Formats: sequence, C-alpha cells, structure tokens
Amino acid sequence: MNHLNEEAESKPQLKLEFEIKERDFSVAGEAASKVKKTLQQLGLMPEAVRNIAIIIYEAVMNVVIHATHGQLKVIIIPEQVTVLTEDEGIGISNVELAMKEGYSTAPLEIREMGFGAGMGLPNIKQCSHKLNVKSQVGVGTVLEAIVYLSSKDRKS
Ligand SMILES: Nc1ncnc2c1ncn2[C@@H]1O[C@H](COP(=O)(O)OP(=O)(O)OP(=O)(O)O)[C@@H](O)[C@H]1O
Ligand SMILES: [Mg+2]
Repeated sequence: MNHLNEEAESKPQLKLEFEIKERDFSVAGEAASKVKKTLQQLGLMPEAVRNIAIIIYEAVMNVVIHATHGQLKVIIIPEQVTVLTEDEGIGISNVELAMKEGYSTAPLEIREMGFGAGMGLPNIKQCSHKLNVKSQVGVGTVLEAIVYLSSKDRKS
C-alpha cells in the first residue's frame, strides 16, 4: 500500500520497530514508553512527545484488540515522526464510521477490561497532523499517522 512518507523514507532517519503479537496487551505501553524515551533524548518538546506516545498506544492497542497480529514502525526524521502500524486481521469495512467518536465493535470482555469507548481513532486523529487508514476486510489494516516537527518542537 502507498505510504504518505515515501519522500521521508529516502532521508536519514531513525527507525524503531516492534512486533505486535496476538493478545499482547502489554506491547502498546512498552512501545509507547520506549519511543517516548528516545524522543526525549533527541530533545523533542513534551507536547510532541506526548502526542506521538498517544498515537502509538492507541494504534497498537487497536491491533491487539481488533486484529490478530502486526508490526509497529516509528520513523523519525528531523521534520516529522511517522507512526505506522500494519496488521493482519478482520479489517475495517467502513473507515469513516470507525473514525467517529464512540463507535466501537469491541466485545463485552474487552469493554470489561476498560477499552472499547470508541475513542482511539478520534484521539489519534487529534494528536496527528496527517492520518491515513487503509483497510481490506478479511486481510488487514495499515494506519499511518504523521506528526510534523517545527523548530519550536525541538529544544536544541
Ligand atoms: N486495526 C484494526 N483492525 C480492525 N478493526 C479496527 C482496527 N482499528 C480500529 N478498528 C475498528 O474501529 C473501531 C473504532 O476504533 P477506536 O480505536 O476508535 O475504538 P475502540 O478501539 O473500539 O475503543 P477505544 O480505542 O476507545 O478503547 C473499533 O471498534 C474497530 O471496529
Ligand atoms: Mg481503540
């Protein structure tokens, strides 16, 4: 599938990759905090770091909860951070509907765990400058979120 960051991929970059295994509920928080640490070390301002961590957490949780398994890639270049999840799973038949606040297909046992408010995708949208969700029913989903970094996002 086409990625929004084709141009960015040819530039010097830092790429962090994580496997998202089936039912691995801890990987979302682990990946978010690892990337957070890296971004802090790179000197990014707290607001950008926070937004990127939220995107990672919500996108990975969606793979764990709604798909079977997948991968997370975080691509960092000076101008932007791209968060990419690719999964194999049931897919999303209506992406526009899935993006609506409060829309969720999470089953009861997932809701009992405190998830399934239907706020993950709207949250990702709010935290990113560009969001692209492509899905094929019965195959899987690709989510790409971009946060642009301006000079004020960098401390140095
Ligand atoms: N990777 C995915 N694979 C399949 N379906 C997905 C995926 N991500 C989202 N969806 C679908 O989109 C819906 C909305 O997702 P969203 O993240 O907004 O809410 P949620 O995951 O149901 O609840 P919350 O994120 O608030 O815990 C999901 O309920 C699911 O139907
Ligand atoms: Mg979600």
